[in-house]
Amino acid sequence: MSDDSLLQVRDLHAYIGSPRGVVKAVDGVSFDLCAGEALGVVGESGSGKSVMARAVMGLMPTRSARTGDVLFKGRDLLGLRKKELEEVWGKQIAMVFQDPGRSLNPVVRIDRQLTEGMRRHLGVSRSEAQTRALALLKEVGVPDPERRLRAFPHELSGGMRQRVMIAVALACEPDLLIADEPTTALDVTIQRQVLDLLRRVQTERDMSLMLISHDLHVVAGRTDRTAVMYAGRLGEIGTSREVFQHAQHQYTHALLAATPTIDQERHGLLNVIPGSLPSPTDPPPGCRFAPRCGAATDACLVGQPPMVEIRAGHAVACLNPVDAKEAEFVGR
Ligand SMILES: Nc1ncnc2c1ncn2[C@@H]1O[C@H](COP(=O)(O)OP(=O)(O)OP(=O)(O)O)[C@@H](O)[C@H]1O
Ligand SMILES: [Mg+2]
Repeated sequence: MSDDSLLQVRDLHAYIGSPRGVVKAVDGVSFDLCAGEALGVVGESGSGKSVMARAVMGLMPTRSARTGDVLFKGRDLLGLRKKELEEVWGKQIAMVFQDPGRSLNPVVRIDRQLTEGMRRHLGVSRSEAQTRALALLKEVGVPDPERRLRAFPHELSGGMRQRVMIAVALACEPDLLIADEPTTALDVTIQRQVLDLLRRVQTERDMSLMLISHDLHVVAGRTDRTAVMYAGRLGEIGTSREVFQHAQHQYTHALLAATPTIDQERHGLLNVIPGSLPSPTDPPPGCRFAPRCGAATDACLVGQPPMVEIRAGHAVACLNPVDAKEAEFVGR
């Protein structure tokens, strides 16, 4: 545990009731996020990234349960009442959601969407909020910001809407911004610009960022550390350079081999990891990746592999890591 941890997540479980049974969307996740740090969270569709982020925020669907600890500045968010959580949302932790269409109110002009939170949480005057709103639109690179302030969301392009959503999230000067696949709906050039923008504002504001994506390439270049999630659990976490260049978990390795770069994607080159995620209601008892893993042994099928630190700050939950000798040596 690091002294300058802003967020400490310990053994977080988030289960959701569904007609299929209880979905174990997040099933024992632990990590730290330091002040001023950008953490990437990657994994295939359905691995639990969004539920994990929402569980941290306290935005769970009905018929769901969370256990574990989510300490933000040392305060346990899991125990907070709705009213107390509302004080945390926006002001301390803000989120940019996966679906931009649903996050901006279509019938409210941009200026009001930007100023409402500021007036409520920061108690600034109407004219001060307007000045700040204009500065925010400039900060996120919206051209002609004076005119855009008076616009409705549908009058903006997808890329501009996404920038406005980031501005709304930044409006109350949060300590932590969670960006959940903030670019899925955008074309690749705009995706890059929005991701670069997030990294720039994170560094300039010395804010913490949790950047969620299915694409390890996208995340590794724009974050300090990366966590790899698979079927509700973390498989690997380390500095982004380490995870990208020396991926140790067999899943991370497969993910890197399968994920096309943004340029490959542009040319329609898609690779996939053979097989699919295990059932979220009835996951296998051992390593959840074992049924798809070429390196799995009998031991992988029985026990859940422990998270082992193989180098300073680089931990892996894999019984047969890619570079097994190194893991054994350093692990001792
Ligand atoms: N409201 C819900 N009710 C029931 N199951 C849910 C609900 N939300 C998510 N799930 C299930 O929880 C699991 C994790 O979903 P989650 O949305 O967190 O995945 P993800 O990693 O964010 O995927 P993606 O990359 O597609 O966004 C999946 O099996 C999903 O079907
Ligand atoms: Mg998601």
